[in-house]
Amino acid sequence: MNNNNIIERSNVLNIIPKPTKCIQRDGYFILDRQTCLFGDRQLEPAVKQFNWLINKCLNYRLELHKGDIYFAFESTMSPSQYEISVGNISIQVKAGGVLGAFYAVETLRQLFEMDFASNGALVCPCCLIQDKPRFTHRGLSLDIARHFYNKEDISFIIDQLARLKMNVLHLHLCDDQGFRVQIDKYPQLNQIGSYREGTSKRNGTVKFDTTKYGGYLTKIDVAYIVDYARRRNVDIIPEIDIPGHTVAMIASCPQLSCKGEQVPVSTRWGISKTILCAGKQSTYQFLYDVLDEVCQMFPSRLIHLGGDEAPKDSWKTCPDCMAKLQELGLQDYKQLQAYMFNQIASYLSKKGKTVICWNDCLSPMLDQRVIVQHWTNRLMKSPMPTIENINGGRKAIISHFDYTYFDYPYCRTPLRKVYTYNPILKGISKEGEKNVIGMECCLWTEFIDSRAKLEFNLFPRLLAFAEKCWSSNADDYDDYLSRSRQYYRVLDRQGINYARNMEYRNVDLIKTARFFLRDANAEFNAQPTPVVDIKESTSDNQ
Ligand code: ACM
Ligand code: ZN
Repeated sequence: MNNNNIIERSNVLNIIPKPTKCIQRDGYFILDRQTCLFGDRQLEPAVKQFNWLINKCLNYRLELHKGDIYFAFESTMSPSQYEISVGNISIQVKAGGVLGAFYAVETLRQLFEMDFASNGALVCPCCLIQDKPRFTHRGLSLDIARHFYNKEDISFIIDQLARLKMNVLHLHLCDDQGFRVQIDKYPQLNQIGSYREGTSKRNGTVKFDTTKYGGYLTKIDVAYIVDYARRRNVDIIPEIDIPGHTVAMIASCPQLSCKGEQVPVSTRWGISKTILCAGKQSTYQFLYDVLDEVCQMFPSRLIHLGGDEAPKDSWKTCPDCMAKLQELGLQDYKQLQAYMFNQIASYLSKKGKTVICWNDCLSPMLDQRVIVQHWTNRLMKSPMPTIENINGGRKAIISHFDYTYFDYPYCRTPLRKVYTYNPILKGISKEGEKNVIGMECCLWTEFIDSRAKLEFNLFPRLLAFAEKCWSSNADDYDDYLSRSRQYYRVLDRQGINYARNMEYRNVDLIKTARFFLRDANAEFNAQPTPVVDIKESTSDNQ
């Protein structure tokens, strides 16, 4: 192997997300057929994963016996913590658990530049890396209701999350425009609720597409996705959004609404006043039945019940809702929503599940165990209830509309804005800070109707976001930008359609207005389709 090449290729450590500590030393470790690999029993799955990656890029596996590369369990470290020490002749990995060892493998993948392997050997600069996550919850929320993304798309996303040390994929499974998961007890949810008769568009002159649109994840698809994610340490959190955003459910089972009238699955976006009836016991039974199946499919300890954007107009004139309010002695219909959530949260807690809701749903009555996901900006809602709840002990996930909604164009949510966001809302106390368990970025898909656009909206913002979730020291945007360039090559190598040259200094209000008023695809259409040398499947499909 040519030594000059080695030095040119690997003389800077550009790890994304940024490790807690990273010191480069002189020299290189060369991995080739003679290198051997071993590890403590607790870390075996990560050792196997490392060897699997070696095989994928070099077409041979390392022999498993003590020698050059060793993964050691270190009981004084936390489970996700790791340290990598690379010397000229050996690599020592220490990890506090198998999770930490997996994260070490992802770092080694970048250090060895495994996506660009050639010559039958790999080279890694000598270094010391110490690392652990800032937040325990590092997620992406993906809406597969407005536009459907299938198990291949979802597996692709899981691969990308795992590479970036993210550990949550929150699937928004149903909304007014579609119900997207198989439920056996109510087949009409799929026969009717999974299809709509057209789709609103905002493509300049095109305002509506009359093509029938639909699809859903079967139970077999979900089993595949859950297993795929489990093997990459990604937790899939299902969301069944109630009581609003339920037109597709109500179109399938009209008795679920207050009036019981037949409605079609929505073809237009926005907030609907057709919501579930909170007064009829049959609504609760229906939800228990659906959630029983959802819990069977998704083993996550967490389950999302939405609770956002639910106008209560129909409740105010519904005899059943009014009677329920009276019976319970509640003061208003916001309390009725909290009652509904408490009933379901307590049903689900018997199955070992903890509920998450959007911050719209907060109420002093809401069960203290429910985790809040904060999304609104100040113009929509005061953040005070969220802050008070966090300071009062409620756990929270932050998904700020202005900083982490990647369905919006880069002119409104530029990279810099994503990277410089502080998720610890002003007013959260030192004690309260511990209740912020993490962050999620969101991809709502009203105007994301293709895999190419999904990739465009997600990348490169996901890199910046992953670093905010993982790294306690993500505070230098220019340093981030220069480090991230190397990861762009990884995106190129995978043929990912990431947004190029979208680094706005500030929000561009004129372009943002164009997105809202005329053309949701302006940025996407302005970018020429990249020419990719090798459009190969780099999916980690082991
Ligand atoms: C939301 O964006 N409605 C949670
Ligand atoms: Zn009602």
